[in-house]
Amino acid sequence: MKRLIVTLLALAFLTTATAAIAADVVTYEASKGAVTFNHKAHGEKLGDCAKCHEGTPAKIAVDKSGAHGAVCKDCHKAMGGPTKCNDCHK
Ligand code: HEC
Ligand code: HEC
Ligand code: HEC
Repeated sequence: MKRLIVTLLALAFLTTATAAIAADVVTYEASKGAVTFNHKAHGEKLGDCAKCHEGTPAKIAVDKSGAHGAVCKDCHKAMGGPTKCNDCHK
């Protein structure tokens, strides 16, 4: 019985963990070419949701000025991610 409860708890935890990171890959359509944001890969590579999310991770608004600044590109400049137009826009 104890074992079953532990298993159920573990399952519940796994389900929440998977649901928490809602979309693996998000695509932003843009006139310059679509930008693919691999949310899952970023989360794994950076190892910490708090690199991008404050408090409980939730939706972050992404617009052109954010993408070209604090939401995407600033970190790329700091950490050696893509900063050229066509590195992001395909
Ligand atoms: C590199 C930055 C970054 C990292 C690291 C990151 N996220 Fe996100 N996350 C975003 C952005 C940007 C969005 C908004 C995507 C969109 O436009 O829908 C988002 C959206 C979300 C959402 C809302 C999804 C929705 O559509 O409502 C959740 C939940 C979330 N992230 C959870 C996580 C968790 C959990 C982690 C850690 C494992 C994590 N994120 C790591 C940038 C990041
Ligand atoms: C907190 C830091 C950080 C933020 C914020 C961040 N990135 Fe990145 N991103 C990186 C790093 C570091 C790499 C390089 C990863 C590597 O070389 O393996 C990268 C790589 C990429 C790549 C190329 C590799 C791939 O996944 O195809 C794209 C495209 C990209 N990021 C798009 C975005 C977009 C769009 C956003 C904003 C919605 C964003 N990133 C936000 C750190 C960040
Ligand atoms: C770090 C990745 C990244 C880099 C580098 C980047 N962009 Fe973007 N850009 C985005 C994202 C993401 C969006 C979409 C935001 C949205 O959905 O509103 C965007 C939006 C745009 C838009 C608005 C498109 C529309 O249809 O309204 C234009 C124009 C644009 N970018 C041009 C450029 C140019 C020119 C460069 C190089 C000087 C550049 N971008 C570099 C990620 C990037």
